[in-house]
Amino acid sequence: MTLHFLTAPRKVAMIIFLLLVTFLLESQSSSADDLTPIENNIPPSPKENFNEREFQTNNKFKVDFKPKGNRNQEASAGKVPLNFRDQIVGGSKAKKGQFPWQVLVTIDEKYTCGGSLIDPIWVLTAAHCCYGFNTFMASVGLVNRTINEPSRVDVDVQSVHIHPKYDSDFLTADICLLKLQKALDTSGPFVTTVRLPKISDATISLVKVTGTISGWGKTSDESGSSDVLKYVPRTVIDNKECAKVYGSTTVNGNLLCITNKDKQGTCQGDSGGPFVRTETDNKFTQIGLVSFGSSVSCVTYPSGFTRVSAYIGWISDVTGLKMRN
Ligand SMILES: *[C@@H]1O[C@H](CO)[C@@H](O)[C@H](O)[C@H]1NC(C)=O
Repeated sequence: MTLHFLTAPRKVAMIIFLLLVTFLLESQSSSADDLTPIENNIPPSPKENFNEREFQTNNKFKVDFKPKGNRNQEASAGKVPLNFRDQIVGGSKAKKGQFPWQVLVTIDEKYTCGGSLIDPIWVLTAAHCCYGFNTFMASVGLVNRTINEPSRVDVDVQSVHIHPKYDSDFLTADICLLKLQKALDTSGPFVTTVRLPKISDATISLVKVTGTISGWGKTSDESGSSDVLKYVPRTVIDNKECAKVYGSTTVNGNLLCITNKDKQGTCQGDSGGPFVRTETDNKFTQIGLVSFGSSVSCVTYPSGFTRVSAYIGWISDVTGLKMRN
């Protein structure tokens, strides 16, 4: 699944229909890994579902509830063991170890999503990658997914935890945790965990913050998905710009949006994949995960991300992880 395409909420029935069609067509094709993005030809209708008052009411940045976990994330979380000078060059192919928390999630042996390793045994991804599917496998330590790289490790998922408030019509709480059958070796350099946001990050808007998206998703409106992991820098925009495209019911304070307008030939990574930023201590912190994009063009319209800091109470509850203040 490359991206969840969304226009306006009332068009969701059609999108789900198209999603099914895509799956059916896909299941008959020979290449299992390559999921064609879901296309429909309805352009986003600016302002159609935008209501200023609804937007202001919903656009609050806050933590869902007080995290209660008491197990710290690994001390190495967010550290990249190897040295990469070109960390912020756009639209590039990743080198092995550059995004050591990146996970390739294979679903029902057919579809793929992105994810991130937040703990040796926990993967964070999007709920729409989990909902309605049966089997999940997580792969780490790889860049080219078409070959069996020596550093690659595949592990089956033991349990799936979809956020209880997930709503597939409005993509509310599009977040899911996968517990692996066994803990991965995160001593690096190709597999490590990414750091989760601080509790205090939950209340800041993140507008104008620049981060990096990584994934095997398609890299332009024309191309298919990629053999190798790619990454691209992106800047967070005001949610209002995003709400004017996707509506003020869908876009709220639990999301963040990025613009693709200023760049050519680059799209986001796969659904569920991580959007990370570096903090002042040079460690990488995941601030978002890929949720939805426009059905028309991923270059012209913004894309929506689940704001990780808005769910750290839930993440802490499910995983037992303690969150930083
Ligand atoms: C990935 O591996 C395949 C199989 O060896 C190869 O054909 C392809 O060129 C590789 N992709 C990249 C971008 O290196």
